[in-house]
Amino acid sequence: MTLLAVSATSSGSFINALTTISKFFGIAASIAIVGVLLSMGFLLEDEEGDLGLEALKLRTVALWSGGIWIIAAATNIILTLANFLDVPIGAAFDWTTIRSFVTQITLGQYMFFQLLVAILVVILIRRVRQVGGAIFLMMAALFGVVAPIFQSHSAASGSHGLAVGSPVIHVVALMLWVGGVFGLGLLQPHSRAMAVRRFSHVALWATIAVVLSGVANAWTRLNFATAWQTSYAVIVIAKVVLTLGLIFIGYQYRSSLNAGEVTSIGWAKFSKLIGIELSIMIVALALGSWLSTNQPPAPANETKYDAATFIAGLPMPKAPNLTRLVLSFEPDALFIGLVVLATALYLRGVYRLHRQGDYWSGIRTISFLVGMFLISYATSGGIGLYARFSFSYHMIAHMILGMIAPIFIVLSAPITLALRTLPQGRTPNERGVRGTFVVALHSRLVSFWVNPVAALMLFDGSLFALYFTSLFGGMMRSDIGHFAMNLHFVLAGLLFFHVIIGVDPNPKRVPHLMRMVILFAAMSIHAFFSVALMSSTSLLDRGYFAQLHRPWSADLLADQHLAGSIGWATGEIPILLALVATFIFWVRDDSREAKRIDRNAERLAAMGEPDELAHYNQYLAKLAQRDLKIESEERGD
Ligand code: HEM
Repeated sequence: MTLLAVSATSSGSFINALTTISKFFGIAASIAIVGVLLSMGFLLEDEEGDLGLEALKLRTVALWSGGIWIIAAATNIILTLANFLDVPIGAAFDWTTIRSFVTQITLGQYMFFQLLVAILVVILIRRVRQVGGAIFLMMAALFGVVAPIFQSHSAASGSHGLAVGSPVIHVVALMLWVGGVFGLGLLQPHSRAMAVRRFSHVALWATIAVVLSGVANAWTRLNFATAWQTSYAVIVIAKVVLTLGLIFIGYQYRSSLNAGEVTSIGWAKFSKLIGIELSIMIVALALGSWLSTNQPPAPANETKYDAATFIAGLPMPKAPNLTRLVLSFEPDALFIGLVVLATALYLRGVYRLHRQGDYWSGIRTISFLVGMFLISYATSGGIGLYARFSFSYHMIAHMILGMIAPIFIVLSAPITLALRTLPQGRTPNERGVRGTFVVALHSRLVSFWVNPVAALMLFDGSLFALYFTSLFGGMMRSDIGHFAMNLHFVLAGLLFFHVIIGVDPNPKRVPHLMRMVILFAAMSIHAFFSVALMSSTSLLDRGYFAQLHRPWSADLLADQHLAGSIGWATGEIPILLALVATFIFWVRDDSREAKRIDRNAERLAAMGEPDELAHYNQYLAKLAQRDLKIESEERGD
């Protein structure tokens, strides 16, 4: 999986030093781009969604940074290749070798992807005119930056979920934190005060994420007891100290903000603070680049090679039993990060409503938390652990992620909460975060996916695309693939159940009958899929489970058949529940409609005006009269 781990040490410190430097420039340049795009799309005032003049001017900075990022990303590929092959840099400049590295070696593919994203950002940055465009490009840049981390030396150590997920969170968080501070430094004094207020929220969350992910990262790589004197450990400690310094400066920010000082005095002081903060961050970035291009000290009790750790990223667990299924915890850092972020955003929304004196049902909050708990259990709990080693446990995780957790989440009305609590524009002209969210909800892309047929295709069609092609085996083997697969299960489930039983507003209201039809279709397609799995005669995982040499429940085909019956049993129940819920909603909506018509009739009757029914009858009478008139004219009466 990671040849880098083997060849890095042997290829000589010169190339290593160059790799650290080009990595640093790559990270610094991509941070500058993210900082500029964050300022353009989130910190600076927009005009009804269009970028203002100051924001448009920032594109030049992004353009230059983009150029540096492209050079650094390309250099990184050459240097990593030279490391791989343990050859001088010149020898790595061979087109055939480069081509096979970026097309056949996973790390090479991810690094090439990063280079392509850097080029894309540079091409598109000049065309960005709207908030949406800036946010989209920022997300693309973040994606490009983290891709190689999924295949870096992090992947060589056990406990992949933590060792791979935590550096990804680390890098995304520090991109927003350092990038935001860099962006603030570029702004005109008149727009800084407004930008600082908004950035301080991002900075707080990003700092927490950088520290937690950094510590988790260090924990998976370092046994401090034995390795604390190594240069790797010393640099980690140095970074902790620098981070404490940054947190102190951040605290200064916030206290001067809360004291309302930012608007008037202290701009000079403020810019000085930014200057100091950026200098410390640059040192931390350099140290981080060194850490990520140098091997952590090998653990004293380094485990010998075993297939499970190499393929699944975790040592083979003992045979599953109730205790292990309930109590095991194998953290999937990325999903933990997503769950913590979503829960923090939801609870913050509920807190805001309560503080405003508005009501929000506690049932909804509990439903949301149950959904989050189920996702955490199916990715980091006992089921999440065994899902890596057995098809049947994988299917249980799939059903929890795709069928059960989404029902709890859509019934907690997260979109309604967002619409009621997201910040409005800071000035009359500004569209604001809420406005951008509303525009996104009404976009053509969202309208396409909330179409019940499209939602059903994604929900059930993807089952066949995943399990009856080589996709499943491929995604089980790669960290980014496994994460993407689980994320797909959750998102496809959220979309489907939002369309069918969601309590949130939907751009296009789906008639109840249509929902029932879609649910029946989902039920039969799901049953067909499960039966196909139960009657399968060959293994669908392309040898993934076989390569793990699992000492328990060794009959892989039987385990696959069991997965089919689990899919059937656990899949049909939520759909059945959704069917019952849809029927109840239907009856309830009909009686509500009937009451509305009655109330309206009474109100109109009280005002002596014909009610809807009378109106309708009048309309029919008019039609009949017109027809009679036409007929009599035709007859020439
Ligand atoms: C509590 C504080 C922190 C700790 C414990 C910490 C720890 C770590 C660890 C263990 C790594 C992984 C290295 C590897 O891949 O082997 C890392 C990577 C990195 N850190 Fe930190 N870090 C902290 C704060 C920061 C801060 C404040 C910054 C920058 C402002 C930063 C920038 C980086 C960078 C750029 C990388 C390389 C990421 C990559 O793989 O591309 N870190 N850090």
